Amino acid sequence: MSAANQSIRTCLVTGAAGGIGRALVKTFHEVGYCVIATDIGVKPDSLTYSRYVQADLARFAEDETYASKVIADLHQALNGQGLHVLINNAAVQILGGAESLTRQDWRTTLDVNLLAPFLLIQALLPELEAAKGCVVNIGSIHARQTKRNFVTYATSKAALSGMTRALAIDLGSRVRVNAIEPAAIETEMLKAGFTGKPEIYTQLERCHPQQRIGQPEEVASLALAIVEGGMNFLHGACISIDGGIGCRLYDPE
Ligand SMILES: NC(=O)c1ccc[n+]([C@@H]2O[C@H](COP(=O)([O-])OP(=O)(O)OC[C@H]3O[C@@H](n4cnc5c(N)ncnc54)[C@H](O)[C@@H]3O)[C@@H](O)[C@H]2O)c1
Repeated sequence: MSAANQSIRTCLVTGAAGGIGRALVKTFHEVGYCVIATDIGVKPDSLTYSRYVQADLARFAEDETYASKVIADLHQALNGQGLHVLINNAAVQILGGAESLTRQDWRTTLDVNLLAPFLLIQALLPELEAAKGCVVNIGSIHARQTKRNFVTYATSKAALSGMTRALAIDLGSRVRVNAIEPAAIETEMLKAGFTGKPEIYTQLERCHPQQRIGQPEEVASLALAIVEGGMNFLHGACISIDGGIGCRLYDPE
């Protein structure tokens, strides 16, 4: 890696075309990062990234030949630079109760939400180490508190938080690893669960002590603070951003 290249800060964002992904790309781009965006579809319009790599993370987790090609594409996008920030943000949310969930539901969920983040960290470890980089895993409040029909998603997010802590131990001083656990954030993933139910959406807002749902930009600001906020001792942390809902006890008053 050349000295000139070392001065460019690089950030890889998965799920870059989604609600939080777009905010992450924008936030890191605005403070001068070379942002490599990746998602399952073709290059998204109206997104200011430096480079784009199309990749299906479910296939990435299952198919080693395909995974090697994706890593080669990411190396090409990095162009010999180290990787300062890896944000594992892509996820699927397959809802279903204990009676209906299929093997494939479990495999897809665990592949995209857990195994792909691990395999990306593993494959890009030399680049992360070279840049004294850090990983931010986008988890969820469902890692700790959940509701009906979220078994696969909640399990995957609990495991992602567990992996964050385990990797903090395993990687030690080599690469920092932290996670963000948001509650409801206003994105398509969230709104999809409330289609045709505006009154329930309003109730969801009111459930939060702050009487509102979070914005994608607030998650991106927290990610930037973890990376750039002079908190190098922050390692293995799973940080809630939840408008206070995680503090609420639902007992009759
Ligand atoms: N929105 C919320 O309320 C909320 C709350 C807590 C945590 N989160 C987490 O935040 C992250 C982003 O969620 P979001 O709300 O922006 O969702 P979103 O659905 O808008 O974005 C998710 C992105 O992941 C991508 N993705 C899904 N499967 C993929 C695959 N196989 N290969 C590559 N990319 C794939 C999608 O294409 C999409 O762009 C997720 O990890 C989610 O679990 C969201």
